[in-house]
Amino acid sequence: MQKIVKIIPVILLLIFIAFQWHQPAPNTDEGQIYKTDFTRKYTMSAEVKTMFQTSCYDCHSNNTNYVWYDYIQPARNMVEKHIREGKEELNFNEWDTYSNRKQERLLNSIKKQIETKQMPLSSYTIMHNNAKLNDKQIKTLTDWLKEQQ
Ligand code: HEC
Repeated sequence: MQKIVKIIPVILLLIFIAFQWHQPAPNTDEGQIYKTDFTRKYTMSAEVKTMFQTSCYDCHSNNTNYVWYDYIQPARNMVEKHIREGKEELNFNEWDTYSNRKQERLLNSIKKQIETKQMPLSSYTIMHNNAKLNDKQIKTLTDWLKEQQ
């Protein structure tokens, strides 16, 4: 019995190591430029643009800026799941392919998500501190969003 108990951590470690081999394809487009990008459609300051790109584009565009620990399982799977689901709802690179109605709905939704601090996802900002928005940044973004409506 004692022998088995001693072996358990070793087995867990082996499972952990084996799991690292499972690496889904990364979300990257090698620096492609999109005519339909959100930041091209509207006039915005460099500050606003950077905030969207830093805090939102990792899950809502075709290009994620990964950090090294994003490649470690099980975080890897979680990050990819967020990207897949995030892009399904909203892809900033494809903004101008959306109908006017959809853009209006999304602008409203973006404002609401930022105001209520639901986005960027807190499970993400814990590990990606630079994506976190402080109160001043939230105000700058929501003021800008109000001007677009
Ligand atoms: C860690 C990944 C991640 C980041 C970063 C992130 N999102 Fe999301 N977002 C998601 C996921 C996943 C969903 C879909 C499921 C849900 O709503 O939780 C989503 C949904 C949304 C929706 C809902 C779309 C709809 O149909 O109404 C909006 C709007 C949104 N995000 C805006 C933002 C904005 C703005 C930012 C940056 C301030 C941001 N997100 C950052 C993952 C992310």
